[in-house]
Amino acid sequence: MAERKAAREAKRQLGQFMTPLALAAAIVDGLVLTPEARILEPAFGDGAFLVALIERLMRVGPEAPADRFARIMTRQLFGVEIDEELAEEAVKRIVERWGPLPAQHNLLTADFFRAEFINESFDLVVGNPPFGGTFDPAIEDQLDRRYGRWDGHKLKKETYSFFIARSLELIRPEGTLCFISSDTFTTISTMGGLRRRLMDETSASLKHLDSFSGETTQPSLVLTASKTGRSTELHVDGAVVPRDEIALTGNFSWKIDSEMARYFRGPVLADYIVATGGMTIGRNELFVRDLGEDGRFTEPFSFEFFDDPITLDKELAKARLGRLSPRLRSRIEEQERRGAVQRNVRVIERKAPLTLDFPHPDYRPYNKANKGIVYAPPRHVIFWRDEGDAVLTFKRNGNWYLHGVGGQPYFGREGLSWHLVSSSIRMRYLPAGCILDSGAPCAFLRPGVARDELWFILGWCLTKEATRIMKTVLNHTRNIQSKDVERLPYPWWVAEAAKAAIIDAVQRLVRSALEGAEFGADAPEVRALDAMFAFVAQEGRVAECVPASRTGMDPDSLLAA
Ligand SMILES: C[S@@+](CC[C@H](N)C(=O)[O-])C[C@H]1O[C@@H](n2cnc3c(N)ncnc32)[C@H](O)[C@@H]1O
Repeated sequence: MAERKAAREAKRQLGQFMTPLALAAAIVDGLVLTPEARILEPAFGDGAFLVALIERLMRVGPEAPADRFARIMTRQLFGVEIDEELAEEAVKRIVERWGPLPAQHNLLTADFFRAEFINESFDLVVGNPPFGGTFDPAIEDQLDRRYGRWDGHKLKKETYSFFIARSLELIRPEGTLCFISSDTFTTISTMGGLRRRLMDETSASLKHLDSFSGETTQPSLVLTASKTGRSTELHVDGAVVPRDEIALTGNFSWKIDSEMARYFRGPVLADYIVATGGMTIGRNELFVRDLGEDGRFTEPFSFEFFDDPITLDKELAKARLGRLSPRLRSRIEEQERRGAVQRNVRVIERKAPLTLDFPHPDYRPYNKANKGIVYAPPRHVIFWRDEGDAVLTFKRNGNWYLHGVGGQPYFGREGLSWHLVSSSIRMRYLPAGCILDSGAPCAFLRPGVARDELWFILGWCLTKEATRIMKTVLNHTRNIQSKDVERLPYPWWVAEAAKAAIIDAVQRLVRSALEGAEFGADAPEVRALDAMFAFVAQEGRVAECVPASRTGMDPDSLLAA
């Protein structure tokens, strides 16, 4: 059992999902290959693409088959694979079929990011690079500096995206890249740099695969990109997507189409709200308590501050990749020598847990993700005595990735919140006073935006159309990040009178939810919003549409009581 789990984990770390030979052969069959072409498979695994390529290349050429094989293996075909066992399997597969490899073959057992080729100019790079794999920690920062941005836009440090970026460097002008890839990169904002790079350097086309293999359910596609310079269109499953439409979306989405593009010709929610993630505590169980429906909760711990001696070992254990800059290192060593301390917090188990009532001066509602829409009463509280001193001290003394406090400037403010991982936008009203958790991103009105916009935006986010735009154009993965919500079109097509009616309807909804009513996504009052926000084409309206409502806060505090 444990062995199988370890094997699965090792496989996941290298992103090892092998391509079935039939699929590799079908992809290779669609490519133009000449007997002169230099071809690279940068992560050849057990060799499906190598076999398909050799098979195809063996069909053409003036020589006898044995000479043809020798030419292919010494001059045409190049391959890299990091996993020795898989590389051996691939070689075995080839040898069984075509006989021993010539001594000068070009199949390397190496890390693609360290591999060097005498002539770094390939006509074709083809394969199925690792998805969700890991990098050699010794070079990952260097790789991030080299490939992690394109024209100021992020290209997330993922094995498949950096494989694409590195391969683009290795392809000659007019050459082609053809990769099976996860389709996640087509919308997510952290891959905006990859989409831009592909459109700046190549003409690209995508073909979604109905199924890839039994080993993974990850939706996959075949990306074919010819290095012909900047392109003004993209081809997706045979349809043409103009670059202009892609550029209308804040995320440079490859999932836009003309029908969706009409929404993006006006302001977006970011003109009205600022959205943010919340904080990650690291160990919620130390500070966050379940709140019962009776308003009571149990506190099993007490908290004690103490002076913790600073040591290099402790700081190294908390540092990213276990590394510290020489300057920081010598500062810490100096602090250790003179016995310096830092304030830390100790969590002590109480002999008998306390039962407390909420509201309580030392606790605040903690906005964790929940499935509620419109409004959901808090189900968690957090120990927040002295403005969260214990939690913030715990984070400061924890691992490097816990040091930042996500959303801190917005703690306590009234706004909106939603479930980060969801197939629909589960938007709800967030009353003032909450501390924010990273699982439930939040949005707050920008300074000077009228409070009514909160109800208008809440209503819009609850419509099926807003979810459709979110899940097709803005982020088709399971997550709904803060930036995704900021990029939603603002319903600029709704006329003023209709808008006033919507605001009124949403206020009523929230009020009854605050009074205890529960609304599911199918509630008629919620579904009525779909028709209220229906798109209406209005000539000339876009051009004049500025966030007109930035006229100051509404003096009526609807929910103040
Ligand atoms: C998704 S599998 C695909 C294998 C093969 N291309 C296929 O289509 O069947 C990705 C492969 O990349 C290899 N790999 C992961 N990181 C690598 C690296 N840095 N350099 C070379 N190969 C790597 C894995 O061991 C795995 O065999």
